[in-house]
Amino acid sequence: MAEDSEETGRTRQNLALYRKYRPATFAEVRGQEHVTQPLRQALSSGRINHAYLFSGPRGCGKTSSARILARSLNCVNGPTPDPCGVCDSCVALAPSGPGSIDVIEIDAASHGGVDDARDLRERAFYAPVAGRFKIYIIDEAHMVTQQGFNALLKLVEEPPPHLKFIFATTEPEKVIATIRSRTHHYPFRLMPPSVMRELTEEILNAEGVKFDPAVLPLVVRAGAGSARDTLSILDQLLAGSDDSGIRYDRAVALLGYTDATLLDEIVDAFAAGDGAAVFRAVNRVIEGGHEPRRFATDMLDRFRDLIVLASVPDAITTGLLDVPPDRVEALTAQASRSGLAALTRAAEIISAGLDQMRGATSPRLLLELMCAQVLLPAAATDERSLLARLERLESGAVNQSYPERTRPAPEPSVTPEPSRPVEDPAAAAPPAPGAQAPADPAQPPADPSRS
Ligand SMILES: Nc1ncnc2c1ncn2[C@@H]1O[C@H](COP(=O)(O)OP(=O)(O)OP(=O)(O)O)[C@@H](O)[C@H]1O
Ligand SMILES: [Mg+2]
Ligand SMILES: [Zn+2]
Repeated sequence: MAEDSEETGRTRQNLALYRKYRPATFAEVRGQEHVTQPLRQALSSGRINHAYLFSGPRGCGKTSSARILARSLNCVNGPTPDPCGVCDSCVALAPSGPGSIDVIEIDAASHGGVDDARDLRERAFYAPVAGRFKIYIIDEAHMVTQQGFNALLKLVEEPPPHLKFIFATTEPEKVIATIRSRTHHYPFRLMPPSVMRELTEEILNAEGVKFDPAVLPLVVRAGAGSARDTLSILDQLLAGSDDSGIRYDRAVALLGYTDATLLDEIVDAFAAGDGAAVFRAVNRVIEGGHEPRRFATDMLDRFRDLIVLASVPDAITTGLLDVPPDRVEALTAQASRSGLAALTRAAEIISAGLDQMRGATSPRLLLELMCAQVLLPAAATDERSLLARLERLESGAVNQSYPERTRPAPEPSVTPEPSRPVEDPAAAAPPAPGAQAPADPAQPPADPSRS
């Protein structure tokens, strides 16, 4: 690490990023405004319920928010949406603070039994020691047993005025209905990619680490909408970085992603109807030790991006797609070269193929078969395939003579045919004439009016 970041380097070793950057106020909880806004409103108007239920996927801020709510309730200025941060209670309940005896966190995974619930019931009647409220945060609430919930029922129904409950869980349906109906339920959501990207970028800057911006979408994707997972991945990349910071090639390798250039290669080969190039790419994937499933998933992701791009030409500038600046041109060209119908069809084939790949004994074979299918729109007569063929014809019309095109029968290709891996009578259909034409980014994308 560079000398100036030695100190952050040390701190990093002590504390995982997801703990170091735990939000301390609702304002710092990202991407959950649909939850934090009404909560802040309730706090400022003083309409406080006695029980809350925070549900949602892993690592999206439930436990953090439960602690923030407790902090907001017990601040000397509270209940307030903006805890002062300096009173005894706020200091104790800060993310790095020692905690307060009036805010009791119970991990139901290990303390969800009926005895624990009875124990809680007895203690709950004692007034808070220092704070305004006595607050129970019951984390992983889905792990509370049926009898445990029953033992709590009375208390949650008619709690003494000093008592508050905050249940946090990934599985709200496992919280018995009689309790759930007594709570205000706030459903958290997966972190939106754009929000996660912003957060990771901020954290890397705060840590003073150099990084290739192309790494960010990779990390965000690998985190799959969980802020905690995303930050853990970032931690790992940081740990493996040297003076040059976080590099794209290393991130790709570590996260097991397919290098963008390999995806470019195969997408271009599909667009060109160049079977040889497609199977060369597949071979390189396997030779490179990549998992066929992973490659197919990455390919599907790429097609998805291209579909969005073909349908919404300004998707990148409007933030609908997260594409590093140096990739914009290449992707835009790919989208217009392939056309919407062909892209959609390819995505459908790969998506269906991915389902079949689950547990398959020869995923490579399936990968190759699905590539062959994508290569041969002529083999199918469904609507999408026909549209894909039409697109190819249209885009090739400038180079090709029309009369030939009107004939329904298969015809010889104009350029030498690349190797065809699958023999199929229908395969002899026109091999993408447009594909042989030089790439023309200015070419309009396929007719998006198609459903
Ligand atoms: N909405 C968010 N905004 C910013 N950071 C977040 C957010 N959600 C989670 N994090 C990060 O992830 C870490 C873990 O979050 P938290 O413990 O609140 O998740 P959780 O929803 O309770 O997850 P789990 O269901 O696994 O218990 C936080 O310390 C923080 O670094
Ligand atoms: Mg939690
Ligand atoms: Zn305070």
